[in-house]
Amino acid sequence: MANFNQRIIAPSLLAANWKNLGDECIRAINSGGDWLHLDVMDGHFVRNISFGPSFVKHVREIVPDAFLDTHLMIERPDNYIEAFIESGSSNITIHVEPKYDINKTIKKIKDSGISVGLALNPETPLEIAQPFLGQIDILLIMTVVPGFGGQQFMNDATMPKVKEATKIREENDLNFHIQVDGGITASTAKIAAEHGANIMVAGTNTFRSTDMKLAIKELRDA
Ligand code: DX5
Ligand code: ZN
Repeated sequence: MANFNQRIIAPSLLAANWKNLGDECIRAINSGGDWLHLDVMDGHFVRNISFGPSFVKHVREIVPDAFLDTHLMIERPDNYIEAFIESGSSNITIHVEPKYDINKTIKKIKDSGISVGLALNPETPLEIAQPFLGQIDILLIMTVVPGFGGQQFMNDATMPKVKEATKIREENDLNFHIQVDGGITASTAKIAAEHGANIMVAGTNTFRSTDMKLAIKELRDA
């Protein structure tokens, strides 16, 4: 049974200094980051291109024991699942918006022995994810329109969904963590936690803060 009271902090490597990727991964872990969050963008599903499976593989080689949380913001996640499993992902999160076989893709991820997340953009209603809630380990409620780091937390569009997801989970005795991603600071983490989220992704507010250790502690204590 997953522990939804456990706060998990996942620094997003999108905001790291890639010139020193190795040091940055280790800095995040040594500063108290629980997971490393990897934002994969294809230039179709979102208006940005980041990195693919080989980047994830490098990170896996740098931090062999870290939990690598791979967030696929791509149009055809179903075509790339094997590659992201082989590269060493510990979790793969897929979006609910693109057109592909979500059930089959969730099954493929789970059959490989890693965990699976399902993500919703801020404008996507929770109902779209409802049929899958019994099969997933993580529900990712995006708190910005995905594509770029450093954006503003969208409270009104997203917090009611976090609250509703918490309620549905309780009423149906379901088992998924609730994750938020985008614009997470100590104060927005507090708001998200009050609505029921327990996994906090933060890029700008970890890697780009003056004191990463303190920033992560503040996200955890908020
Ligand atoms: C947004 C990504 C996020 C992003 C968060 O498209 O999914 O993970 O890195 O960045 P911050 O914390 O800077 O909003
Ligand atoms: Zn992300």
